[in-house]
Amino acid sequence: MRVLRCRPRGAQSRTDLLAKLDRSCGPNLGRSGRAAAPRTCAVGLHQARGELKVAKSAFITGITGQDGSYLAELLLGKGYTVHGLIRRSSTFNTSRIDHLYRDPHDPEARLFLHYGDLSDGSRLVTLLNEIRPDEVYNLGAQSHVRVSFEEPTHTGDSTGIGTMRLLEAVRMTGLDCRFYQASSSEMFGASPPPQNEDTPFYPRSPYGAAKVYSYWVTKNYREAYGLFAVNGILFNHESPRRGETFVTRKITRAVARIAAGLEEHVYLGNLDAVRDWGYAPEYVEGMWRMLQADTPDDYVVATGTGASVRDFVVAAFEHAGLDWERHVRFDERYLRPTEVDALVGDASKAKALLGWQATVLPGSLAQIMVEADRAALECEGRVHIDTVQLPGWPTPGSVHG
Ligand code: NAP
Ligand code: GDD
Repeated sequence: MRVLRCRPRGAQSRTDLLAKLDRSCGPNLGRSGRAAAPRTCAVGLHQARGELKVAKSAFITGITGQDGSYLAELLLGKGYTVHGLIRRSSTFNTSRIDHLYRDPHDPEARLFLHYGDLSDGSRLVTLLNEIRPDEVYNLGAQSHVRVSFEEPTHTGDSTGIGTMRLLEAVRMTGLDCRFYQASSSEMFGASPPPQNEDTPFYPRSPYGAAKVYSYWVTKNYREAYGLFAVNGILFNHESPRRGETFVTRKITRAVARIAAGLEEHVYLGNLDAVRDWGYAPEYVEGMWRMLQADTPDDYVVATGTGASVRDFVVAAFEHAGLDWERHVRFDERYLRPTEVDALVGDASKAKALLGWQATVLPGSLAQIMVEADRAALECEGRVHIDTVQLPGWPTPGSVHG
């Protein structure tokens, strides 16, 4: 099924969004510079309508990323008020969440964005103290493995120490919240598959090592301070909102462009690496389930199916009726100093205790992504956002209820 959803002309643009952000309830964003707690703002609006709802609130770091956008969509669909941390950027970085945004003066608005950064611990304290969310999802990170070899110190600071800063902010504000840490199958690195919660960590990159640090400090805050803190050890998960430099999206975007006659070749590195690729919307549901459990614990989330990069290439090109061998070329620049050869997860604990199970496997995932990249091309420069291909997922209309 092909779904084409371009933002209609005249609808809210990214410029509108950021301009409105500047006038929002967020404590960092008001022109007066005075703090107006966004949570108070949201509740007050409900009260003014005489319908005080005690819905849950969530704070998401990394809300502008792939997972953050789907998680925000999921939580808004469940009636949450969602607060997201965004980084100030000289260019727009909110394209994945523009479709969820409402002007904060709108009584229906339940998404609030706040400038901040995981490198700025005092800002995290101030924000959490004002928002006082029920759930905190730490998805923010320098998340690219290859880039972590080029920027190891920055990766350690954002992907590793950033978690400690956020945990400390929770502790210092005395927040009674549940905390989700975006841990990664990259922590298993050289440990052979299938990997589960008991598999030893053997990271093979600065990114993997930083995630191991975050994993352990999250576990330590659970044990030391009784915080409801969990690690979701997620295997690779992809979608039409995946960053364009991760291999699946690089491939499906290239397939769409080659099929449209815009490009002839795509340059890739190691085609033999095996990954366990799932569909991101299903994985953010797993995150949410972890925070609804009776007790905090750590869980692997994976499909249990391994596929090589080559397998994914074949599935994507075949779906568009293209011969991949005519279009894929090798470039050693995409190799890593140390590679993770194979990640295939065993998610039986998540299935048994959370009732979570993947339904989308790599072959159909490649098709969903190719279709979305072809649809995006048809938008001709206007913003395209995919519709989640899962039964029961909130529709755009229902997100704001
Ligand atoms: P992503 O698309 O790369 O998004 C990363 C997010 O982190 C973006 O919103 C980014 O903001 C933000 N960010 C980066 N540095 C930051 C900083 N210093 N302070 C605050 N925010 C910062 O990643 P994703 O695929 O959604 O993954 C979400 C999380 O899960 C990450 O922690 C990732 O490492 C982890 N994870 C991902 C997978 C996967 O397969 N996708 C698997 C396991 C674990 P900008 O938009 O401004 O850059
Ligand atoms: N990015 C990229 N680009 N990877 C390539 C390329 C290419 O041109 N050619 C081959 N690959 C191979 C990589 O060497 C790796 O073995 C595999 O494709 C997947 O690479 P990525 O898509 O960059 O993902 P990743 O597995 O390194 O990391 C992702 O998954 C982790 C979970 O296991 C990221 O999302 C991490 O943040 C996440 O923690």
